[in-house]
This record gives sequence, C-alpha cells and structure tokens, in this order.
Amino acid sequence: MAMEPRSFQLFPDSASNFAPQVDGLYLYMVLISAFFSLLVAFLIIYFAVKYRKRPGQGLPRPADEHSIGGMILEITWSVIPLGLSLVMFAWGASIMFTESRPPKDALNVYVTGKRWMWKIQHLEGAREINELHVPVNRDIRLTMTSEDVIHDFYVPAFRTKQDVLPGRYTTEWFRPTKVGQYHIFCAEYCGTKHSGMVGTVTVMNAEDYDKWLAQGSGEGSMSEEGESLFRQLGCANCHVKDGHGRAPNLYGAYGMKVDLADGSSVRFDEAYTRESILYPQAKIVAGYDRIMPTFKGLISDEGMLKLIEYIKSLGDPNGVIPERDLPHEPSNIQKTGPTMPDQSEMPAAKPAAAPKAAAATTPTGNR
Ligand code: CUA
Repeated sequence: MAMEPRSFQLFPDSASNFAPQVDGLYLYMVLISAFFSLLVAFLIIYFAVKYRKRPGQGLPRPADEHSIGGMILEITWSVIPLGLSLVMFAWGASIMFTESRPPKDALNVYVTGKRWMWKIQHLEGAREINELHVPVNRDIRLTMTSEDVIHDFYVPAFRTKQDVLPGRYTTEWFRPTKVGQYHIFCAEYCGTKHSGMVGTVTVMNAEDYDKWLAQGSGEGSMSEEGESLFRQLGCANCHVKDGHGRAPNLYGAYGMKVDLADGSSVRFDEAYTRESILYPQAKIVAGYDRIMPTFKGLISDEGMLKLIEYIKSLGDPNGVIPERDLPHEPSNIQKTGPTMPDQSEMPAAKPAAAPKAAAATTPTGNR
C-alpha cells in the first residue's frame, strides 16, 4: 500500500475540492510578498547609489514633513497594502468558513486518534487502522475524537487539517476529486512516536468503494452494534420506545431541540449525547427525574460513537417533525416501523393508557 516514491514536488497533490482554493490563496500571498520584497530590495540599492555622498557636497536639505507630496505618498503606501491584505483576510476567511461547515448529506466516517494510530470506523461496520477508504467526488465528513491527548488529522493533498480532542467531537470534511493514495499526518505533537502517527487515504471510484465496503469486517453496522450496546448497558429499560419510560424517548429526538428542567434548551447532537451518557446530571430534560447513573468508565470512545450512531438511526417515528438535521444515514440500516402512537399524546398520556395505545400501533420493532 506504500505510495510510489516521487521526484521532487513543490506542492502536494491537489486532490480535493479545497486544494485549488487554498493553492489560489497561497499563490496570491506568495506573489504579493515576492513583489514587495523585490521592490523594497531594489529601491534600497537604487537609492543608496543615487543619493550617495559625493566629494565636496555638504549635508542634504531635510525633507519638508508637511508637504502635500509627502502626505500623498504616505496615504498611498498605507492604503494599497491595507487593501491587498484585506483581500487575503476575506479570501482566507471564506475558505475557513467553507471548511468548517460540512454539507448536510456528507458521508459520515468516525475517526478516533490514539497514541499513535488512527482508528477509522465506517457506518456500515468496516474498520481500519491508519487507512481511510473513501469514494471519489463524494462529500466526506469525519467526526473525530481522541482517546488520550490532542492529535490533528491532516491530509496535505486535501488541504484540510483539524485538531482531534479528547472528550469532544470535532469535524473535518472534504470532497476528494482524484482517485489515488494520499498521506495522513498527525499535525499536533503528541509524544514520542508523533512522527510515526501517519496513514493513507485511499480515494476509490464509486464501484471499487462499494466492493471494498462489501468485504466489510463481518461485524454489524455501527448502529447495529450500538443497539446491542444500548441493550447490554440497560439503556432500553428506561428509554423506552413509546415515551412512557422513566427517561426521555429517544425516537426522533436526534437533531431536535431539547427543553431542559432549568428552562434552557439544548440541541440533541453528538456532544449532548456524549455528555448525557458520561455526566447525566449535567442537563436534565424537563419533566424527568435525576435518576440516570453515569456510564463513565463503562463505555469506550468507540462504543460511544456506536451508541450515537444508533440514536441517530432511531430517526423520526412519526415523520411529522420538519427540518431534521440528521447527518448522513446509511441506506442499508432498516428504519423503525412505519407507525408510532400519535406524538401529541406521547409525553402527556397517563401511564395507564400506555399499553393500549402502544398495543394498537406498536411498530414492528427496530428491525
Ligand atoms: Cu498524534 Cu501527533
């Protein structure tokens, strides 16, 4: 899988949607810097020669600081560089904003950094270490976390780079535009073997990618594994499907706004899910008791990602909530049954009414 040795290269490969943009900005900055460096160097030499002291000449007359000509010169050499550097700022900011906002329908891949390796987990179940296989011309979103210290996932050919932090999720996205293999580097000093924390991104055409995915790891998809974890840990005892449990219903909850007991609200996202599992007392959903125990120490970072993926896959049972903000859901994961009790009666209904309502319209199960 080693990359072919290359002759001297001034630039890394240009293999993502960002590469031409970043290179364009870089070229602009290099040209501006080169132009002014040469101009200043030339003028130093030119003036040194032109105004050199000649034999028999006295001290030159000092320039008039208040002359109009001097003023115009000052303003000109302030305004032009200001304009040129504001272009750099606006151009750079626009690229940065694009890079920090993954498209909604991007293909989600999970990355866990650990001294000194990259563990990659695909939604469909495939896992890899220090390797990342992605299809060409498809938006890819990496959701990343670290098991220990701060790392940084850097693919020079894609011109993207993002810190990977313990206890948090960060994202990075790109659209590979060229089939091939490219370096992954860790770009944050993380200990003895930091320089060895490298890997390879393999960009494949769609067909090859599907074939590669189909080989799989023999294990279930992430959300399937998340579901069994959900059962093993006993989550299902309280977070019951019909919304009458001791804990909030998780069906259709991901991506929505959650009202909290203290009157504030929070978005049901990856960070909120993680916090609620590790520190359940941090945010209590309105109408529920502080009864959930912490699962800190009982669940690995990878297990956490699977649980999150499972909770995402629970989707919206009623199909009535507009504008859900779900990231990519793999098509091969079966959705929940077609019907659930009318949502309006779910939180309000008395427990006594529950069995009836549930029995009448119980979905066929998650799978
Ligand atoms: Cu991980 Cu440097």
